[in-house]
Amino acid sequence: MKSISNLSAKEAISQALIKCRQQTLALFSDINEDVFTQQSHPDFSPIGWHLGHIAFTEAQWILEYLAGYAALFPEYHKLFAADGLPKAQRQNLPDFTVIKDYLATVRNKVLKYLESAPIEQQYRLWWWLVQHECQHNETITLVRQLHKVNTNNFYLNQSSIKTETSKIIPEMVEIEAGEFIMGNNDINAQDNERPAHKIYLDSYAIDRYPVTCGQYKEFMLADGYKNSQYWSQEGWQWLQTNPISQPLYWQDASQWDNHPVCGVNYYEAEAYANFVGKRLPTEAEWEKAAQFETKVLRNWEKKQLDALDNQDNNLFNTVPVNANFETKTIWGCYSMLGNVWEWTASWFMGYEGFEYYLYPGYSQVYFDSQHRVLRGGSWATLPWALRSSFRNWYHPWVRQIFVGFRCAK
Ligand code: AVJ
Ligand code: FE
Repeated sequence: MKSISNLSAKEAISQALIKCRQQTLALFSDINEDVFTQQSHPDFSPIGWHLGHIAFTEAQWILEYLAGYAALFPEYHKLFAADGLPKAQRQNLPDFTVIKDYLATVRNKVLKYLESAPIEQQYRLWWWLVQHECQHNETITLVRQLHKVNTNNFYLNQSSIKTETSKIIPEMVEIEAGEFIMGNNDINAQDNERPAHKIYLDSYAIDRYPVTCGQYKEFMLADGYKNSQYWSQEGWQWLQTNPISQPLYWQDASQWDNHPVCGVNYYEAEAYANFVGKRLPTEAEWEKAAQFETKVLRNWEKKQLDALDNQDNNLFNTVPVNANFETKTIWGCYSMLGNVWEWTASWFMGYEGFEYYLYPGYSQVYFDSQHRVLRGGSWATLPWALRSSFRNWYHPWVRQIFVGFRCAK
């Protein structure tokens, strides 16, 4: 970290904690009891569980692990620990007000502890914790979407969104052969982003934008969902037991044609890529294409932070792939940070020299060749977890997240 005084580092952390928490609680302003406690899909816990789990995790790592306090509310351990109950058994929850009190009790102690904490040795854990809540915040947002909560009030009407757009450039981007630094050793980097390491890639081409609804429509109109030739064997099998004919968050109206397709699983992304004679990029190819000039990245981060200051600016939906969010990479790719997560062809694995942090269950237990890597963050990703080295991972059949893809060749 740069030479900043203890005071401002602590301020940065407490500000991040407080802002992130405002964003999390705002997601509960219009939630009824059923939505709070019920599972919307077997792969996801009820949103109320996420709230208790956020408090539990904060108490566990700050109050118990760092501060050495005795466990607070030990009766919550089994319920809110990630390795406690199976997802289907997380519906018997305390009331919202009780969990909110739990959050506040933990948070007050945490902020009090922060005042005198030996922060130099603790930065990594504190930034890990901020990002832990960010990730659960995004999951809460998507579970809301699955419950179809109050979509009209919470999500801005598309016609009221004014984004500047640049001209769509149809060609793919050519990335020169050569080395680049993959991964990230910064203090806020997760275990799975480390260590940063040099990688050589041959030249390749990658889509300038994520695949749009307009493009994906051609696959649907060509009966892509009925034609096994585009699908992997595993994908086709999945489709037979889960008969679908469009992305989960599909928007058919032409005003959505330049928005990224959203709510597809890995199998659908792969089938589309085959349909157009391309393939999905590896995560190394994705990350090399996502190199920014630092200045540009800062602008993007600032915009995100401004949006957080003003809830009304937060779009709560995708924007056109050619929206001018200053997200052009040094290679000329757009919309690589935010908007939609993007599937890559890579299995989630540790980089050489990987060391787990904070616990093996954070990343390491998912190095099982069953999870594919997603990159780039979505419109629901909070800024503290939004960067080109950030790695997300899901089973290939998951399509409930805000995810699209771009192709390579
Ligand atoms: C990386 C989003 C798959 O939500 O299960 C949250 C992040 N890890 N708490 C998840 C995570 C521990 C994780 N994902
Ligand atoms: Fe968690």
